[in-house]
Amino acid sequence: MADWSECVDVAVEIARRAGQMVSCAVQQEKRVSSKSTPTDLVTEADHQVEELIISTLREKYPTHRFIGEESSAAGVKCELTDSPTWIIDPIDGTCNFVHSFPMVAVSIGFAVRKELEFGVIYHCFDGTLYTARKGHGAFCNGVRLQVSKEKDVSKALILTEIGAKRDSATLDIFLGNMKKILSAPTHGVRIIGSSTLSLCQVASGAAEAYYQYGLHCWDIAAAAVIIREAGGCVMDTTGGPLDLMSRRVVAAGTREVAEYVVKQLQPINYGRDDL
Ligand code: IPD
Repeated sequence: MADWSECVDVAVEIARRAGQMVSCAVQQEKRVSSKSTPTDLVTEADHQVEELIISTLREKYPTHRFIGEESSAAGVKCELTDSPTWIIDPIDGTCNFVHSFPMVAVSIGFAVRKELEFGVIYHCFDGTLYTARKGHGAFCNGVRLQVSKEKDVSKALILTEIGAKRDSATLDIFLGNMKKILSAPTHGVRIIGSSTLSLCQVASGAAEAYYQYGLHCWDIAAAAVIIREAGGCVMDTTGGPLDLMSRRVVAAGTREVAEYVVKQLQPINYGRDDL
């Protein structure tokens, strides 16, 4: 049975190359446009980096399938089959990238028979590399990761992201959810502008939990393996199993904190990635 370790090495190499391309591009003038909403940004660099990653991987693995953020935005069907599938976010934190706010990552996840096998996330500004392979642990620059073991939500630091919808009804639910989380009371809530790097903070034990409505499969795929391998849990916002295509997630160091977050949340409907 394949253990995919060679694919992990390839993913690490291409994530580093892509990350270097992003860190060069951040110093140049950016060509910015928007996708689903005026706040859902894309730049020329997003397209170039995705093209680099997918063309390199496709040449090496011609039978594999690919789900990429910008290919999906361009109309390629976002479909997870049983085939080995690479799930790619070329620049996670595009809005940060546009503003040179230093929280930007390249994220590469890999699934086989719809099961996530490994994940690689490269922080483009400081070169931090997060990696994990199912059953083999999670690492940050080669050092083993361990989630926070905190079970008491009143001692928790919780991360979230806003998502692209900014209509008044959505913002009311978003702010209502945050109010409930803050008034637990928790130690605090943080929004850093990158779903993947937020999830890596949970894997590192720097935050106890993360929740979001409106993210995509390429924001969760790699990070879900990294959190699970660091000892944490990743689930649906209803408390059920994670559905990669559902555009919603709760992740935490402990089940107790995850379940507390789940109970506070009123849902925001973003539809699905695969429809
Ligand atoms: C987005 C960022 C953002 C989060 C969105 C993501 P992108 O990814 O992580 O912080 O709120 O849900 O889709 O568009 O920068 O790759």
